[in-house]
Amino acid sequence: RNYQTASFLISAPTLAKCPLDQGVEVAFAGRSNAGKSSAINALTQQRALARTSKTPGRTQLINFFTLQNDDQLRLVDLPGYGYAKVPEAMKKEWQAHLADYLHRRRSLAGLILLMDVRHPLSDFDIQLLEMADDRELPVHILLTKADKLKQGPAKASLQQVKQRLAEWEDLVSVQLFSSLKRQGLDQAYSVMDRWLAR
Ligand code: GTP
Ligand code: MG
Repeated sequence: RNYQTASFLISAPTLAKCPLDQGVEVAFAGRSNAGKSSAINALTQQRALARTSKTPGRTQLINFFTLQNDDQLRLVDLPGYGYAKVPEAMKKEWQAHLADYLHRRRSLAGLILLMDVRHPLSDFDIQLLEMADDRELPVHILLTKADKLKQGPAKASLQQVKQRLAEWEDLVSVQLFSSLKRQGLDQAYSVMDRWLAR
């Protein structure tokens, strides 16, 4: 796939407002500030396709991007979860939309789940893995901001996450990733290529 051809399609606040559930898409999920938007920009080699921010909770809508100008081939930037300053009621609402999307979106071929390599596997990350498991949706985990750790500790974190996810090894894979250093792009492309070829 030619990821550099990505372009913005539409923002949707709820599942009902999403583009027609046809074709195939890969979604990016993770805690607020995990680096979802940065990863989409790195993978598509565009500086500002997805909006990134130092303020967590920036992406509050489900943002859709097309590949190769084909609206049947999409990347999806999901709202981040777990941002402390967001009111509890709003958090619950986002989580409900996210659950709705993950459970019901038929064109969703795989989930890229991003976690900061320094603190992976939050409770909600695990909940998301369980939701994906419910419908046998494959998940590929990017341990992001790998540039923030030396090689040894980064590898140790990777091994730890692999061990904790052993029960899901058929559906879940994991790698180190850095948008800043452009580390791990090829490994991520090969997973996305496979999903988008469906
Ligand atoms: P929300 O939209 O709020 O859910 O956040 P997000 O997951 O989209 O995170 P975003 O891509 O906006 O990145 C959050 C912050 O982390 C920004 O300040 C980025 O510059 C920084 N960041 C993202 N990726 C990396 C990386 O690979 N290395 C380093 N050092 N910083 C990164
Ligand atoms: Mg974002």
